[in-house]
Amino acid sequence: MSTVKFMSGERVPLEMHKVRMVQRVNLLPVEERLSAMKEAGFNTFLLKNREVFLDMLTDSGVNAMSENQMAAMLQADDSYAGSETFYRLESALSDMFGMKHFLPTHQGRACENIIAQTMVTPGSSVLMNYHFTTTQAHITLNGGKIEEIVIDEGIKITSTNPFKGNMDLDKLRGSIARLGKDKIAFVRIEAGTNLIGGQPVSMENMKAVSQICRAEGIPLVYDASLLADNLYFIKTREAEYKDTCPGDITREMASLVDVLYFSARKLGASRGGGILVNDDSIFLKMRELIPLYEGFLTYGGMSVREMEALAVGLRETLDMGVISQTPIFVEAMCNELIAKGIPVVTPPGGLGAHVDAMAFCDHIPQEQYPAGALAAALYIASGARGMERGTLSESRKPDGTDTLASMELVRLAFPKRVFTLSQVKYTADRLGWLWENRKLIGGLRFVEEPRVLRFFFGRLEAIGNWPNELAEQFRKDFGDSL
Ligand code: F0G
Repeated sequence: MSTVKFMSGERVPLEMHKVRMVQRVNLLPVEERLSAMKEAGFNTFLLKNREVFLDMLTDSGVNAMSENQMAAMLQADDSYAGSETFYRLESALSDMFGMKHFLPTHQGRACENIIAQTMVTPGSSVLMNYHFTTTQAHITLNGGKIEEIVIDEGIKITSTNPFKGNMDLDKLRGSIARLGKDKIAFVRIEAGTNLIGGQPVSMENMKAVSQICRAEGIPLVYDASLLADNLYFIKTREAEYKDTCPGDITREMASLVDVLYFSARKLGASRGGGILVNDDSIFLKMRELIPLYEGFLTYGGMSVREMEALAVGLRETLDMGVISQTPIFVEAMCNELIAKGIPVVTPPGGLGAHVDAMAFCDHIPQEQYPAGALAAALYIASGARGMERGTLSESRKPDGTDTLASMELVRLAFPKRVFTLSQVKYTADRLGWLWENRKLIGGLRFVEEPRVLRFFFGRLEAIGNWPNELAEQFRKDFGDSL
């Protein structure tokens, strides 16, 4: 990805790749989008792909692959045990991170299961910049608690802080003093902090956290799933690293931590996951669990084709031309939205554009899931599917009331190198229309609510007749346009 100047002086994102394989997408008329949304229980996870025009639900497992990744898939060495493919992947990971041991898993949350089972004991705490849904679920399942110690700025929607994912070092020291280091299972840093808007962590902050953890003897775990975006931001926002190549930045980061894990659905544009660890005894404990939950040690639930694609994808993650596309598109989208007055998380992060549903739908109480309602309304207005990242994605408290999220966001994810600039502009236009008609959007309530990770397959209904009114207004305003 690059940015070029047009004659007018405007700076415009320019794709540094060409599309050599395409997939057809459908844009259904608004009436059909309305019925599809109702059918899906107002949950964008339950839409069928054929009903979706632009799938901005996630980047997970849906990033575009390069020709070199595709080519590598053809030379995979298929075998249950000891395949050459595994050793190629192991060597790519060792070159990239310089850590001692590698354990393969079928995806990121599988790493979290193994890490939590190995390192979390009942009553212990895990300190982290911010939780991710599946991370928290695995820690609590093993009897642990989480404490979020991101800087205060991290959970403010608008800010100029370039590293909103940073940990607050005073909070870190305070929690260690209060809990006692023996009660802390580990400290976890999440790269490109997902739930607060894909916000990065600076190297300076990682170094300081690592120093504190090492002085106290507390293991430091790094969730590198969103490393690609974080690398781009270290290089472009942290002055000291502007001339350091992404490979050197990565190795320096890895040298600061004890355990590193990743979802290869994100990092490396493939599918699968992995844990890297230096300590022999932690490695041996984790290794016992791999054949139990994942598969044999030389595939861990991944297919050999995925492993070959991952080995190549990891190397491509160290290329700024490749990893810059998502952050540059996120920024382009956010700039379009800001120009229309739409509230978004700033500065723009990685992963996707994050719309502030609390401000967008300030007439909808949090208990009626404003971010869920906005995600449903956006699908009706555009066929683009985003993801609710707010109260719906939380679990209920023991007394049955909702845990109100600190942010109500609709995430419009940008899988790497999948969309074009006109698709970005289309989505921004439809969001602009929704913004002007925002008072038409109403709340949602559950009709079917799973106990665990309810946002994945819970079903809701609209409170009132707002979805029909929204679709009617769309038809009035756009005439015969899709
Ligand atoms: N850690 C982070 C930071 C993630 O964003 C994810 C997944 C995981 C762990 C779990 O990985 O899906 O391979 O099991 N995030 C996806 C998303 C689901 O849409 O943001 P997984």
